[in-house]
Amino acid sequence: MGGMENIEALQSEIITNDDDNVVPEASEEFVYTSHVRSLTERAMAYLNVGYSVHFAGAAGTGKTTLAFHLAAELERPVILIHGDDEFGSSDLVGRDSGYRKSKLIDNYIHSVVRTEEEMRSLWVDNRLTTACRDGFTLIYDEFTRSRPEANNVLLSILEEKILNLPSMRRTGEGYLEVHPAFRAIFTSNPEEYAGVHKTQDALLDRLITINVDHYDRETEIQITISKSGISRSEAETIVDIVRELRMVGVNNHRPTIRACIAIGKVISHLGAHAYENDPIFLWVCQDVLNTETAKVTRSGQSLMPEKIKEVIRKVCKQNKSGRKAAIRPVMESV
Ligand SMILES: Nc1ncnc2c1ncn2[C@@H]1O[C@H](COP(=O)(O)OP(=O)(O)OP(=O)(O)O)[C@@H](O)[C@H]1O
Ligand SMILES: [Mg+2]
Repeated sequence: MGGMENIEALQSEIITNDDDNVVPEASEEFVYTSHVRSLTERAMAYLNVGYSVHFAGAAGTGKTTLAFHLAAELERPVILIHGDDEFGSSDLVGRDSGYRKSKLIDNYIHSVVRTEEEMRSLWVDNRLTTACRDGFTLIYDEFTRSRPEANNVLLSILEEKILNLPSMRRTGEGYLEVHPAFRAIFTSNPEEYAGVHKTQDALLDRLITINVDHYDRETEIQITISKSGISRSEAETIVDIVRELRMVGVNNHRPTIRACIAIGKVISHLGAHAYENDPIFLWVCQDVLNTETAKVTRSGQSLMPEKIKEVIRKVCKQNKSGRKAAIRPVMESV
């Protein structure tokens, strides 16, 4: 199976419209390797049966991108919520009285809302309520950053397909039947991450969780090419360096695919190349890869710069000889 043939035109560019919905659109940058395909197929199977899915995994493993891709495939408008420690249940479903919170995470509402009067009416028809009523797709990104009790409202939505709106009860609208097309896609980071709350079991029990790890090498290469426009052989070098460094130290999750993309983009912009003797490539690698989390020290001094140099040398040599070996049979047959 050739790598390039595996790339198919895909979706996931996000367009935000005035209604606060996001409409995912086709994006040619989305990479669809067999690894990505199998993840999306599994998730889509659950969504089609009516379940909500949850991508759980370390930073930079493609969770949010996958969520948007699936949402695009569902072809429904998308409502996006980011988990926030400041959320209360009523922030998710809306409220019709007494607004006292000082922090709003939404830029739109921030800029539009001037008076408490207006604020009330906006929050009454809040994002989750809209998604449930109109059968939109909800992407709840990093939902474990919200306090568990703020997410309680989701329990009956996912199980009984009913949205409970206690504050609306006196007007006879205390319950809202969830539209059959409504689906939710959740993402979360592991519990040991800063700012992440321990997830409530009741919610997890109602979701189907797909654990995601870093992509396989081929997918990382394709993403790096797609996002930065560099050549395949240079993308291979960068990805191999990053994957090797990921194994160093106590944190085996950094550097992530984001580092591959960043190095690729910067060297491409500067006209540099992923070669051992390109000074620009070398300093870009040092800056991007010298992550604080990879704490490898000797007498208080970080060993990372040295380790990065060593890995660059090793990978460049290995890939060069690998390419020569691959080219030789072709040349010989000419
Ligand atoms: N299939 C893909 N095609 C193209 N680019 C991708 C794909 N998957 C992930 N990426 C890119 O990889 C990077 C990391 O992906 P993403 O932001 O989805 O990770 P994440 O798991 O949500 O990370 P975090 O936990 O830090 O939010 C992004 O720049 C994203 O655009
Ligand atoms: Mg994310």
